[in-house]
Amino acid sequence: MSLKERVYYIKEEAKNFSLNSKEDLEKFRLKFLVKKSEMMELFNIIKDLAGEDRKEAGRILNEAKKIIEEKFQIHQDNLVNEPEKRNDEDLTLPPLYTNKGSRHPISVIKNRIIEIFSRIGFTIEEGPEIEDDWHNFSALNFAENHPARDMQDTFFIDMENQLALRTHTSSVQIRTMQTQKPPIRILAPGRVYRNEAVSARANCFFHQIEGLYIDEKVSFADLKQTLYYFVKEMYGDDIEVRFRPSYFPFTEPSAEMDISCTICKGKGCNVCKHSGWLEILGCGMVHPNVLKNCDIDPEKYSGFAFGMGIERQSMLLNGVNDLRTFFDNDTRFLKQL
Ligand code: DAH
Repeated sequence: MSLKERVYYIKEEAKNFSLNSKEDLEKFRLKFLVKKSEMMELFNIIKDLAGEDRKEAGRILNEAKKIIEEKFQIHQDNLVNEPEKRNDEDLTLPPLYTNKGSRHPISVIKNRIIEIFSRIGFTIEEGPEIEDDWHNFSALNFAENHPARDMQDTFFIDMENQLALRTHTSSVQIRTMQTQKPPIRILAPGRVYRNEAVSARANCFFHQIEGLYIDEKVSFADLKQTLYYFVKEMYGDDIEVRFRPSYFPFTEPSAEMDISCTICKGKGCNVCKHSGWLEILGCGMVHPNVLKNCDIDPEKYSGFAFGMGIERQSMLLNGVNDLRTFFDNDTRFLKQL
């Protein structure tokens, strides 16, 4: 076999040598790259050749050596040095699927309510969840012996300083009227707490949005039209509303607002207890005593307020029948709404 042929065969053998592990790499090195290897021995042979022949043989040998060394180098990089930085990765492969987060259903509804009211000039106010008796009850015209102050409803956390977890977001009305001058037009979303037995319809905490509008000559007609606008935007044009007289210490007159049942459209079903109506919020004209407690002159100013449960709106819109599912953090439920 001529030298040229020998080089050719060695080169072919090296090209076909599969390198899948560090062991393969070592075998490859011993076979083709160490001094005693068949390949390197050839360099000794060509020393004895004359002139042009030696030049030509050297060229062929060096070319083969370069190919073999390159192959070794590439596989060494991949297998030994930086296995995680393989440069033969297929960059066109689609990425692995990862779960994208989504907004909690309570936030979705809250943002929707805020968006609807912000279009008619309402801005956001917030207040503390740990509230004192005055902001949560007294300033809102609750009598000393009002049952809502009872231990059964309220989580008192510091009897000495009369601190409790707020039972409603109405306390933010007071904080706002203490710090702002009319006209006031605010929404106060937030978490509230009630010392109640947990069931499908009640939880020890839930979320409310409070609304308050104070200015000169605000009337009950303004209240009705504002809430009417809200319901149409929230539940659709074909929804009916009705106001029922009610009682809250902080409003006079007070009302509760019902909408026609979103499930049966007013015909009567289990959800609306065959009445055709669903209660969605409480509202009324701000009681003069409440205005006085906040140093706002009830002779000059009047206003309306309303409060609604956020979970309740989501339950009515989405047909959810157990309040607790909002707090179980089961992503199969959360992702649907
Ligand atoms: N604070 C009341 C509650 O928690 C809801 C409410 C009713 C708020 C009437 C108001 C209102 O502002 O005018 O049940």
